[in-house]
Amino acid sequence: MKFGIESINFYTPHYYLDLEALAQERGLDPQKYLRGLGQEKMAVPPPDEDVVTMGANAAYRALENIERSSIDTIMFATESSIDQSKAAAIYVHKLLGLPTTCKAFEIKQACCSSTTGLQIAQALVTQNPTQKILLVASDIARYGFNTAGEPSQGAGAIAIVLSAQPCLLAFNGESGSYTEDVMDFWRPNYRDEALVDGKYSIKIYLKALAESWKHYVKESGARFEDFYRFCYHLPFTRMAEKAHTHLAKINKSTLTPTEQYQQVADSLKFNPITGNCYTASLYEGILSLMIESKEDLSEKRVGLFSYGSGCMATFFSGTFLPHYKRWLQGEAHHHMFATRKSLIYREYENFYTHKLPSDGEDYVTAKHETGLFRIAGIKEHKRIYETCPIAPPQRPPLQQTKSITKWP
Ligand code: HMG
Repeated sequence: MKFGIESINFYTPHYYLDLEALAQERGLDPQKYLRGLGQEKMAVPPPDEDVVTMGANAAYRALENIERSSIDTIMFATESSIDQSKAAAIYVHKLLGLPTTCKAFEIKQACCSSTTGLQIAQALVTQNPTQKILLVASDIARYGFNTAGEPSQGAGAIAIVLSAQPCLLAFNGESGSYTEDVMDFWRPNYRDEALVDGKYSIKIYLKALAESWKHYVKESGARFEDFYRFCYHLPFTRMAEKAHTHLAKINKSTLTPTEQYQQVADSLKFNPITGNCYTASLYEGILSLMIESKEDLSEKRVGLFSYGSGCMATFFSGTFLPHYKRWLQGEAHHHMFATRKSLIYREYENFYTHKLPSDGEDYVTAKHETGLFRIAGIKEHKRIYETCPIAPPQRPPLQQTKSITKWP
């Protein structure tokens, strides 16, 4: 039985801050962000967007050609949760009009809970191959003004329909895991912004990659040479360079730096213009690879690395399916990126510092540009979501990015 992606869509807010503007404000050389991190723009959600609206917007598009009544379970992976008790999945379930028989829950372990969701989905589908699972991963990465992490902030959501009838990517069964109690990145309940030991987090990420790869090789018998492409969790684009050269070195690869770069390059087209989307980042990279690769990747194998600080990591793999390109919404994604609005620094500050009231006061949220769903306000401590009309897409091409890492 096959298990994999039947449909996938990525959503990012309609606003971004150009990192050259941020560098100027911070008195830094913009090349530190553009080349040092490989980042060009960070997505910034307006006050009337949160993880629910972003997730619902991605899921709405992912379900365009899928009968909603066929969805048995919706899972929501996030580390930007809006409630300690109620799952964000239930809000999305309502906004999308999913059947009442559909189960809904939220999952957490930093950036890799989306991959745990995928593994739960695989178990459910194996048990009952008629099941279709909607996996939503949605996050807003927040480190705070003038911190080292600030230029790696971002926001976005991915929605994936997983089933036994995949048409884009089939996941191969085996995976390798690594878990260790470390304090590289965490966010206590009383904070809106993450605390991070940045340099340490990079070291732990690389250690978790090596260890989960070792476990994966033991479980699967696979070799580095068996993979045509690799996708990594992307906190910032140059992390993929550090990760892939590390993995190639561990495996004593004879590939040249240019060949190594080709193995990841197409997965790195979206992350530089959105920033870290935490749980959605690895899957944003997979979608980028599928949309941006000029080459037909059908039947080719891709190695996948999911990392969640704290930490837990998973190495797993997939194989692209024949005619997968037919099912991608490439033009719609290009349109979404190309029609976003650039914020000036002060607008970024205003969006970033906006908070919904936490004292129970009723509140009406100012209207900004959003997708189909937005938060209208708060009433009696409850978030009120609404559906708004959107203009049909004009579909201009993706703007050329300036920051793509070129490490050879
Ligand atoms: P920093 O203080 O900017 O680091 O923090 P830096 O001063 O070392 O500069 C970064 C790079 O820019 C360096 O390159 C510099 O040489 C270069 P490298 O040594 O790495 O090759 N550079 C320049 N390049 C060109 N021109 C210049 C210039 N100046 C400097 N003029 C850091 C960087 C990533 C640590 C920071 O942004 C941070 O803390 N980010 C947040 C944490 C993070 O992303 N960690 C990644 C691994 S953990 C993870 O992925 C999990 C996570 O997603 C959370 C979760 O799981 O939930 C974060």
